[in-house]
Amino acid sequence: MSERFYVTTAIFYANDRLHIGHCYESIIADALARYHRARGEDVCLLTGTDEHGIKVERRAAALGRDPQGWVDEIAAANQALFGALRISYDDFIRTTQERHRQAVQRLFTQLYAQGDIYLDEYEGWYCPFEESFWTETKALPGHLCPECGRPLERTRETAYRFRLSKYQAQIEALLEQKDFLVPATRRNEALAFVRQGLEDIAVSRAGQQWGIPVPFNPGHTVYVWIDALTNYINALEGDRFGRFWPADLHIVGKDIARFHVVIWPALLLALGLPLPKQVYAHGWINLNGERISKSRGNVIDPDSLLEKYGVDGVRYYLLREVGFGLDCNYSEDALVRRINTDLANDLGNLLSRTTQLLNKFSGGQVPDPGSSSDGVLAAAAAEALCGAEAALTQLRTGEALAEIWRLVERANKYVEEQAPWALARAAGQEGRLGAVLYDLAEALRVTAALLVPFLVETPGRIYGQLGLVGAPERWAEAEWGGLQPGATIARGAPLFPRVEQAIK
Ligand code: MSP
Repeated sequence: MSERFYVTTAIFYANDRLHIGHCYESIIADALARYHRARGEDVCLLTGTDEHGIKVERRAAALGRDPQGWVDEIAAANQALFGALRISYDDFIRTTQERHRQAVQRLFTQLYAQGDIYLDEYEGWYCPFEESFWTETKALPGHLCPECGRPLERTRETAYRFRLSKYQAQIEALLEQKDFLVPATRRNEALAFVRQGLEDIAVSRAGQQWGIPVPFNPGHTVYVWIDALTNYINALEGDRFGRFWPADLHIVGKDIARFHVVIWPALLLALGLPLPKQVYAHGWINLNGERISKSRGNVIDPDSLLEKYGVDGVRYYLLREVGFGLDCNYSEDALVRRINTDLANDLGNLLSRTTQLLNKFSGGQVPDPGSSSDGVLAAAAAEALCGAEAALTQLRTGEALAEIWRLVERANKYVEEQAPWALARAAGQEGRLGAVLYDLAEALRVTAALLVPFLVETPGRIYGQLGLVGAPERWAEAEWGGLQPGATIARGAPLFPRVEQAIK
């Protein structure tokens, strides 16, 4: 039996369209899913939309829309965008779907029946923006929200509460495991939070319209976390639950990591289900030092970027530029620089030069390497494969790409060092010339195979120019020596035309 890999993104609030920050999360998840698929594993990539709650209800009301019509439109727009970004999701869950609604009601009833949820008179402070309740002690002085700093509203209501406090010791032990939450900075924060003591949390709201009714008390609606978090198991209908649960990896932003490493495991413990293996809390894409967000109104529209720079340009920038778990200041200049330097200059020129040399000195065919190779590029390729694998195992896409670019740079340098044009003029160097040209073409073929997790058009285009049919699919294709002598080169358009734009 092959291994399996279940990876999820957060489900995105359906209060508005997605921006580049959301795209970043989906693209990392997609790259990891593609990597595991290329390794022959049974992969499920889940994403979706979080469609209930006050934010969505308010947004729809402000637009004079009915909430269902509005979320239908957003879900369709998100799917269209994911299509354009080539996010290879296997399932897209919407929290208004019947499969989700039924499962949430079943789980809520089970937790209530076994005493993990109880009805309580709840008095405290509510943040309508974060949709969270705070006790007197947790609210900031002046009754401001500890998450977002906005004024809290005093509330007194009857609510169902989940006995989060009961799971304190288990959650602490879970967070003490080194790799459950990465990076380590987030783990330390979460651990410090848990050590302050966990309080039971409200899991229903009275009188909210847009949500899943508590089945045995329809005046109450299930709110936020039981509705949203359970999507990860509710999507796995039928035999897919046994096949994929527990999840290998939940990818979420650092703002919601805590819910995924505290509330979610506690719910699963209460339900008697295995816990996810890992949570990766990525950083934020910021603009001028501020998180890009719909409520701040500083969104970067992904569609216009895709139109201008193409899917591989945008994917490359985000996967390469954003450090593991770190924030990244978005800049179009940096994006253009990455495209011009890494993609057009380094990779594009290597392909262009190599195919030109093959046309000129080898009749447009991949030569037989014979036994004259010095093994330099074969060694660089083996290092790139090994380095990219190690980086991807640690979810570090930027470092994996840096490893691959080391091979690209080495190959470019090799052209200069070996000067095939000089070998062609020198007497008795036919063997060396053939080996140099073969090694350059093979280095490019390996690069194409290594790029499969990251870029969606480029690997096939490189294969095409090297005279290979189709696109690389398997990670094992990145092993040295796959190129068959005699293939006919099909030199084509530059891989990445330089973006001519004034860089500020
Ligand atoms: N609906 C909840 C998640 C429930 S998961 C069971 C939610 N939705 S969200 O639309 O606000 O955010 C979805 C994801 O996008 C989160 O992981 C969040 O961190 C991420 N991002 C939102 N803005 C972002 C940036 N500016 N940069 C990077 N990621 C960002 O929270």
